[in-house]
Amino acid sequence: MSAAAYDAANPQAQGPATALGVHFPATNGSDRFALGVTKFLRLFADTFFAKRYGHRAVVLETVAAVPGMVGATLNHLKCLRRMEDDRGWIRTLMDEAENERMHLMTFIEVCKPTAFERFMVIAAQWLFYVFFFGLYLLAPKTAHRLVGYFEEEAVISYTHYLAEIDEGRSENVPAPQIAIRYWNLPATATLRDVVLVVRADEAHHRDVNHGFANALAGLPQGPIAACPTHVELVPNWKAAA
Ligand SMILES: [Fe+2]
Ligand SMILES: [Fe+2]
Repeated sequence: MSAAAYDAANPQAQGPATALGVHFPATNGSDRFALGVTKFLRLFADTFFAKRYGHRAVVLETVAAVPGMVGATLNHLKCLRRMEDDRGWIRTLMDEAENERMHLMTFIEVCKPTAFERFMVIAAQWLFYVFFFGLYLLAPKTAHRLVGYFEEEAVISYTHYLAEIDEGRSENVPAPQIAIRYWNLPATATLRDVVLVVRADEAHHRDVNHGFANALAGLPQGPIAACPTHVELVPNWKAAA
């Protein structure tokens, strides 16, 4: 079932506005490349994880947190070289990377990866970091389009995760404390509430990245789904010293 069909049939599933079912049509070679890579990786993820959505979330969030930091690094260096303003791109991309890392910190409380999945994470990080760094260096528009398509798939996957919870195949356990603090959720929040806000985060990343790709292509940015509120993370390394 598509994300949009699931939400149409389950109006109670609607969390923070996510504009489900959004798809940016691929109209040129660059977009088609990004979409093709996304569909290939989706097939791989569907085959490997099937309906193990907790494991899927943990492993894929380790990858999802990479592009924002790569984009922020390369834009930072470009702005230094050109001595020009970044128009807020660097902070936005760093926020995306931090937000994805908080998704990981949340789901690791819900589901423990297997030893093989931990090995996969290490291998995938090497491969994906090098691939994405090279892609962003050569074709930043394609890189942002790729992330936009990844995030379209993330919205769909978290919608399927919601269905698993609603249909009783995944237990609707209490929300991890880290998630309650980060999204300022009520103390009684459950996994379902967490998946709703994570999905809304992914919809926001989707629109921001398609918007950045559009900006680089000279196209209008397009609408951006609202980002759920997150508390600002306060550095606590001094306390640990
Ligand atoms: Fe995520
Ligand atoms: Fe995301």
